Amino acid sequence: MLPGGSTHVVRTYEPAVYVARAQGARKWLVDGRELVDYTMGHGALLYGHAHPAIVEAVREQVGRGTHYGAAHPLEVEWAELICGLVPSADEVRFTASGTEAVLLALRVARVATGRDIVVKLAGHFHGWSDPVSLDLDEAGRQVAAPGVAAATASATRVVPPEIEAVRRALAGRDAAAVILEASGAHYGGVPLQDGLVASIRRACDDTGTLLVLDEVVTGFRVEPGGMQALLGVTPDLTVLGKVMAGGLPAGAVAGRRDLMELLAGPIAHAGTYNANPLSASAGIASLRMAGDGSAQDAASEYAQSLEAGIRAAMDTAGEPGRVWRLASIVHIALDDPGRQAELSNAMREQGVDLLRTSAFCSTAHGDAELEQTLTGFDQALEALRTVAPA
Ligand SMILES: Cc1ncc(COP(=O)(O)O)c(C=O)c1O
Repeated sequence: MLPGGSTHVVRTYEPAVYVARAQGARKWLVDGRELVDYTMGHGALLYGHAHPAIVEAVREQVGRGTHYGAAHPLEVEWAELICGLVPSADEVRFTASGTEAVLLALRVARVATGRDIVVKLAGHFHGWSDPVSLDLDEAGRQVAAPGVAAATASATRVVPPEIEAVRRALAGRDAAAVILEASGAHYGGVPLQDGLVASIRRACDDTGTLLVLDEVVTGFRVEPGGMQALLGVTPDLTVLGKVMAGGLPAGAVAGRRDLMELLAGPIAHAGTYNANPLSASAGIASLRMAGDGSAQDAASEYAQSLEAGIRAAMDTAGEPGRVWRLASIVHIALDDPGRQAELSNAMREQGVDLLRTSAFCSTAHGDAELEQTLTGFDQALEALRTVAPA
């Protein structure tokens, strides 16, 4: 019925997993099994599943209509919250997803600069659209995903996350934008060298290139103001999604007024679900809770305990590997590639659902979840002993 039995490349589990409902830090499968959830809506859920404030906002809105085919006050309030929190945001344009917001930011950059080329860092993920579905292979050659037209691929330049490589890519002054995850690839899974984002900012300024920060995951999660607040780097445009919409579908481009105003002029941007009222209602509830930093602090504090517990468990078990953290996101890497590949399945067997080998923590995670996760991790490591070292 569904190709590959799922609807998303990272949701293809073997054996297949079907969720019946979710609440707080937990979800329940159709077969009745209970999981401590660290996928947290691919990072969208900073307050856990079905947070009462978000449920109430959506419940109220759904009876008032789900699509007006017109402007509405919620989109204004949502944009005001975003501009109040994201340091570089003067204005906002909503889309239906982060993928769409990336496409729009690149379109704005092309119009603003009159240039075609987009520079992307190797390993960085920006959704599934054609202009960013390229990477470097092990030999350092640029490769496009199957189905990306050669002409499209030729307008993207993929470079390693190093300042010299970025500078070389910008030297011809033909790039409209550099786009990157300011956390490093995979929401901090591959951290960047200290100071790299600030150096890329300078390289952009030197060459008339726009800096686009993709904060779809990090926005409102690592800090109320995202990675740009944490690093003190001001992008020209920011791509947002996930926490911004409290678990409902949406994305946005935010940025400097003169750039954003191009959307009131030469750029005709449509989209049936832009600023959809239901997403707006959930987004407003989410961002109202994101403003004072207490939610981010609580989720990060839990993540810190999780990180320490996992590290202690690896030490006790003599399992070589690393565990590290960006705010409320914990990353686990076992040195043995065979065990690393099996870790997320082994954890699920123990009732803990990671997003690959990362854990998105929320304000709904507490002592019971921590204990269950660490017990599960001990048992998963035990079970993985049967995996022959690669
Ligand atoms: C950094 C980053 N950018 C963009 C996207 C695309 O967002 P969406 O899945 O809403 O299209 C994602 C999705 O996971 C992401 O992690």
